[in-house]
Amino acid sequence: MNIREATLDDMIPMQNCNLHNLPENYQMKYYFYHSLTWPQLSYVAEDEKGRIIGYVLAKLEEDPAAEPHGHITSLSVMRTYRRLGVAEKLMTQSQNAMRDVFNCKFVSLHVRKSNRAALQLYRDTLKFTVQDIEKKYYADGTGYLELWELECVQD
Ligand code: ACO
Repeated sequence: MNIREATLDDMIPMQNCNLHNLPENYQMKYYFYHSLTWPQLSYVAEDEKGRIIGYVLAKLEEDPAAEPHGHITSLSVMRTYRRLGVAEKLMTQSQNAMRDVFNCKFVSLHVRKSNRAALQLYRDTLKFTVQDIEKKYYADGTGYLELWELECVQD
């Protein structure tokens, strides 16, 4: 298993991985936007045959009212490769690049309250803290979806 910076050629397999693993999906142009604008921030994990088994899709938030900071748009790892430290490595690579290349002071992301695996990864392993909680209705109107905004301060 190898982790490396994502290239434009990786965007289709990354989207495929995302479609397998998450309900939040994006048009291909959004993947290209990330890769063309901040090529240093997105990473892929590949197996010994070069197949993409995990990715982190990340960007810079350029809100003029706030300090420059990184944002994790999406992270996922294929089921058979989970609990091997892949997500932690992908996140660390992206966060290091945010700090070293763009001088980011912190990193933000959104996660569902119900996503126990991701919350444990972000809060316990990577030391993100909860900044805000946003309540929304599910699109089908069956109840609330709680989205947590987490932030991690860079060293
Ligand atoms: N249950 C509890 N804790 C977990 C779990 C789990 N299922 N998975 C990871 N963790 C925590 C543990 O503390 C783990 O350390 P440990 O194995 O030493 O106990 C630590 O996170 C590191 O785990 P990794 O092996 O690096 O995580 P993995 O490669 O398995 O990927 C991920 C975790 C990305 C959440 C994976 O389960 C996944 O792809 N889930 C579906 C997609 C998803 O939810 N993505 C995040 C959405 S939020 C966003 O994209 C911004």
